[in-house]
Amino acid sequence: MDKLIVEGGVPLRGAVEVSGSKNSLLPILAATLLTRERCVLKNAPDLRDTVSMLKLLRYLGVAYEFKDHTISLRPNGLERYEAPYKLVATMRASFCVLGPLLARYRKARVSLPGGCIIGVRPVDLHLKGLSKLGAGIQIKEGYVIAEARRLRGAHIYLGGSFGSSVLATGNVMMAATLASGTTVIENAACEPEVVDLARFLMKMGAKIKGEGSPYLEITGVKELHGAEYEVIPDRIEAATLIMAAGVTRGEVLVKKARAEHMMAVLEKLQDAGMNFKIMRDAVLVKKTSRRFKPTDVVTLPYPGFPTDVQAQFMTLMSVSDGISVITEKIYPDRFMHVAELNRMGAQVKREGPYAVVHGIRCLSGAPVMASDLRASAALVLAGLVARGKTEVSRIYHLDRGYERLEEKLKALGAKIERVKE
Ligand code: EPZ
Repeated sequence: MDKLIVEGGVPLRGAVEVSGSKNSLLPILAATLLTRERCVLKNAPDLRDTVSMLKLLRYLGVAYEFKDHTISLRPNGLERYEAPYKLVATMRASFCVLGPLLARYRKARVSLPGGCIIGVRPVDLHLKGLSKLGAGIQIKEGYVIAEARRLRGAHIYLGGSFGSSVLATGNVMMAATLASGTTVIENAACEPEVVDLARFLMKMGAKIKGEGSPYLEITGVKELHGAEYEVIPDRIEAATLIMAAGVTRGEVLVKKARAEHMMAVLEKLQDAGMNFKIMRDAVLVKKTSRRFKPTDVVTLPYPGFPTDVQAQFMTLMSVSDGISVITEKIYPDRFMHVAELNRMGAQVKREGPYAVVHGIRCLSGAPVMASDLRASAALVLAGLVARGKTEVSRIYHLDRGYERLEEKLKALGAKIERVKE
């Protein structure tokens, strides 16, 4: 296993480019199962999760080539409708092959994804939506078995106790593209990644209205054809890079960062005292001399403050000049980074879905352990600003969702090295 060694205290300077969006690419890869024709996906990030999904697709019957951030896919003759545990368990997002397999083969057998460190991660909304489309759903031996002689359009309310669901919206939307009649999804997720999936499906010939709003309307078609598509830049990586520049008091041009996808984050960073200039296809982070102001945050479904930026924001608040309250409304247990930040001298107290952060002047470098993708990023940010050396172990978590992050940061002047554990 690899670890990252970070020497803190260097203000980042220069320009960096954001990679394509992981959370856009993964459901779009699943959507290629809806056609027997060739698809080409551009701006695909080279990540562990990308490879995991491609392995699953190959098992299901899709041959692929992945070169220079472009993936070309076409059927390989196999027509399997079962996604086995060993492939789904490695990455929860694999569960979004359920909708496409059901729509294509009228049956599917997909392993339940199981939970992960940030929470239980139920799939009840996925199953509710698909059964409303006419699928019979059984849970047997850890697998979801879905069958439908015919999928019929339906009016589906897809809100759960934590609000809308990104991948449940994706699963149901993909299945509805080949159902007979019209499907309405109320309380659909509005994330830019859901919009990207809808736009890819429309390029394949799907009929969809309302993407980006809580009210989606999908009119079923007979079949979908192949398509070429470029996925959007990764707004979570963009936010992470902007915050790396801010926390080190540097000056960085974050290219391909789309401000319109990050308004809630940019507003909170502005409240905390960061200076940046929003440009057409970039965000320029300007040097700030002041410490961050304490700023409260509540994570919410898009367009609210994203849960995937909560851990990184906590790092910034841990060196602010006051007390901030961070409320995690999407995954109330998503606080594995608290103990690790406190090992670096941070003063964070967790109370259920709340974390109270008492800002301190300076974190101290220490050996810390990554627990999940975004917590890893928060620990790297902490290492960039801490006094001394920080060793972040188990960074295979980081590699799931950040493409060569240490190289991007090193190119901005950070003292950061990847070494074998
Ligand atoms: C997507 O996961 C993202 N993953 C997550 O990013 C992100 O944190 C999450 O959306 C929320 O924005 C991908 O897109 C691959 P949800 P998803 O269904 O779709 C509850 C990362 O770091 N829920 O929107 O699985 C759920 O427990 C990852 O890149 C149900 O109750 O999340 C949560 O509390 C981590 N029943 C809330 O809804 C369901 O059937 C939102 O989850 C489904 C979800």
